[in-house]
Amino acid sequence: MNPALDSLPARPRVFVLSGAGISAESGIPTFRGVDGLWRGHRIESVATPEAFARDPLLVWRFYSERRDGARDREPNPAHRALARLEERIGERLFLCTQNVDPLHERAGSRRVAHMHGQLFESRCSDPGCTSAPYIDEATYAHREDLPRCAACGALARPHICWFGEVPFELDAIVNALEACDVCLVVGTSGVVQPAASFASSAAAAGALTIYVGPEEPGNADVFAAIVRGPAAQALPPLLETLAER
Ligand code: APR
Repeated sequence: MNPALDSLPARPRVFVLSGAGISAESGIPTFRGVDGLWRGHRIESVATPEAFARDPLLVWRFYSERRDGARDREPNPAHRALARLEERIGERLFLCTQNVDPLHERAGSRRVAHMHGQLFESRCSDPGCTSAPYIDEATYAHREDLPRCAACGALARPHICWFGEVPFELDAIVNALEACDVCLVVGTSGVVQPAASFASSAAAAGALTIYVGPEEPGNADVFAAIVRGPAAQALPPLLETLAER
């Protein structure tokens, strides 16, 4: 197995960051994999508060397609291996994902920090409204059907962290990064902040950093080890070794 793991203490605390690559083998396309475009729009131009203010129907069409694309997807061996790891090491695992799909939960993971929100949830678009996010699996194709907040009547929006917004659960994430012995990053291009800095924060706090994926990420220099390969093949044996320590 990976010789880098020999340096770990017994019963290590494990921080995992997953990105779009972990769901690629389940059939959910990555963001930057193909051409990063959706119907001729740059992803960044449909995933911002300004885009929603300008054209909420366009934004809802984008997320409606993504809801349809994720609806029947099954978790793959990488998601399942993480769920098994949680069963075995419990609180010593902190699983954080940039993904908004529900595949970690479908695999059986119970504690997942969805830093970029959840595809199948919506919330009021008025930041002053105190209503909570709610489960919403619907799709919206017409302006007159767009969902509205049950409390205040403003338009509802996807419960997604858009470009220019602050990710969710950052306090818990920062604490877990400071406390971990190993920071394992899986299937992310390492270019979107703040997630792209998690491995260097963990390394600065003394953790071993490992990347798993078929290509080197943009922040490759912050990893002590890079395991090249698709997550469904490369991740399960690595997690098995971690669980046994
Ligand atoms: N296993 C592991 N990794 C894979 C696989 C696979 N089978 N297939 C592709 N990858 C890797 C690619 O090599 C790439 O590095 O997954 C990565 C996907 O990168 P991105 O598409 O940039 O996805 P991600 O890094 O998760 O994007 C970050 O950007 O648009 C925003 O909010 C969105 O959460 C997203 C964020």
